[in-house]
Amino acid sequence: MAKQVKTIGVLTSGGDAPGMNAAIRAVVRTAIQKGLNVKGIMRGYAGLLQEEIIDMNSRSVSDIIHRGGTILYTARSMEFVTPEGQKKGAEICSKHGINGLIVIGGDGSFRGAGKLAALGINTIGVPGTIDLDIACTDYSIGFDTAVNTAMEAIDKVRDTSTSHERCSIIEVMGRNAGYIALWCGIANGAEDILLPERYDGDEQQLINRIIDNRKRGKKHNIIINAEGIGHSTSMARRIEAATGVETRATILGYMQRGGMPTCKDRVYASIMGAKAAELLYEGKSNRIVAYKNGEYVDFDIQEALQMKKDIPEDQFEISKMLSR
Ligand code: ADP
Ligand code: F6P
Repeated sequence: MAKQVKTIGVLTSGGDAPGMNAAIRAVVRTAIQKGLNVKGIMRGYAGLLQEEIIDMNSRSVSDIIHRGGTILYTARSMEFVTPEGQKKGAEICSKHGINGLIVIGGDGSFRGAGKLAALGINTIGVPGTIDLDIACTDYSIGFDTAVNTAMEAIDKVRDTSTSHERCSIIEVMGRNAGYIALWCGIANGAEDILLPERYDGDEQQLINRIIDNRKRGKKHNIIINAEGIGHSTSMARRIEAATGVETRATILGYMQRGGMPTCKDRVYASIMGAKAAELLYEGKSNRIVAYKNGEYVDFDIQEALQMKKDIPEDQFEISKMLSR
């Protein structure tokens, strides 16, 4: 029989993402309207192990839907990766009467959530990462804001790149995944997109394309490089030496993770947060809320973590065709 949950906790974990606050708000207000008590756990699993736990009510989440970052703060915890840390985490939850937990984060955070579920704390994951690298879901909170922020920044670099007739290598975040790079590459009309999933390190081909682009009258040459490939500054030096085209590197960095969430991020975060609280209310555990093929669904955590996803090849091919 499904375990009745009375008090739930909510935490954000791993890298922050714009829209996490909207998800927290949705969790808190949905749970309260279902008659549950809600506690906020500060600083992810690290804060759980330090018992940084606060009571939350509907007013605790007023005026946050439009704010980037996370009001609960976020952190990474090595201690929680150990079985002892997880046992301590589950005991602290029980000590505070928390028998349901919502974890807003990425794959690493969901691994931790699965461990707590196995220790008897009903746990639900909500996908929150700008990287879009969670296989079970077509959408993760923060991606839309991050790509819009990066797109606007790249437009600005493009202006100066054109004026100076330069080549620009612009590095975007995404850890080992190329989704931010692919989207910005298409949205910004980049000449080249270097994806960790595809790039074979053949710099000579890149150089040949820059020379060819010049011959065909292109004024600038925008290369979007994914963080998972990195080395943008040294790459720029080598490209300039080989092509004779002035080349500059720009690493966009953490600006991509901040700022006011877009409408899309607020809406997806609100619905996913509410669905997570509903799942706990229904006595469910060990699930991840996801958006798949146009629908909000949920998956078993371990099954979700086994899933694989890849860059859509057709989109990558179209980006190459359009950059000619
Ligand atoms: P993300 O959730 O964005 O993928 P991380 O990979 O940094 O971010 O994971 C966030 C936190 O989740 C880690 O600091 C750690 O406390 C916890 N975590 C990660 N992997 C595991 C694991 N295998 N078992 C238990 N907890 C984990
Ligand atoms: O997962 C989000 C992300 O911003 C990645 O794109 C990046 O690789 C990583 O987090 C950076 O993490 P940190 O904040 O620890 O530097």
